[in-house]
Amino acid sequence: MANTRKPIVAGNWKMNGSLALLKTFIEEIGSSEQLETVLCVPSPYLSAAGRGEYILGAQDCSSFESGAHTGDTAVSMLKELGVEYVIVGHSERRQDHNESNELVANKVQTVLNAGLTPILCCGEPLEIREKGTFKEYVLEQLAAVKNVCGVSFLDNTVIAYEPIWAIGTGKTASPEQAQEVHEFIRSNLVSWNEAGQNTRILYGGSVNAGNAEQLFAQKDIDGGLIGGASLKIEDFTVIINTAKQ
Ligand code: PGA
Repeated sequence: MANTRKPIVAGNWKMNGSLALLKTFIEEIGSSEQLETVLCVPSPYLSAAGRGEYILGAQDCSSFESGAHTGDTAVSMLKELGVEYVIVGHSERRQDHNESNELVANKVQTVLNAGLTPILCCGEPLEIREKGTFKEYVLEQLAAVKNVCGVSFLDNTVIAYEPIWAIGTGKTASPEQAQEVHEFIRSNLVSWNEAGQNTRILYGGSVNAGNAEQLFAQKDIDGGLIGGASLKIEDFTVIINTAKQ
């Protein structure tokens, strides 16, 4: 890692895995002084996953604190289970559940209110990448959060840049493409508030054991949000070890 921000490697199991797989991760993934290893498992597994040495993460939460919202999960409940990080605004939720920038911003605020850390996802679809307006697109996603939460969200939020065309497709953004957007994000965060200098910005989208090193070597990439490769203990371990270097 080319900077002083503590790296994060966060696994996002999405709607995959099993209790048997989780048992392996509980036994084999340790904690480290050099980085934060976060495991975001499906919510039915959170209780069991709390026994591991990694930091526990959730994949989503409600924007409401409690009430008549069948099927949703309150952030206070996640907190009771020992969850510290909550992924918010993942592109699959934006797509599958029509989550708007405003709803995502409200969720960030709810997570912050509970004293947990949001992993705020942003990233453009292929057509926006091809049109060339991807920076504006990503900035709009982040500005919506600033408008609802104020610039202080930068103190306690992790940002994950995940170009949608690179998620689960095997098409990683090149280290240069990723760094270009990370640098753009960082310069905007810093223009909002100096605290943006310390905000960790993760890259996500087909990160694997083979490409993590080059991605993590980029100046503004502070680790990764790992989907597919976080389901294979050997690959996930290699990625964790890469982030320690
Ligand atoms: P992927 O997913 O690593 O499988 O591309 C990343 C993510 O969606 O968080």
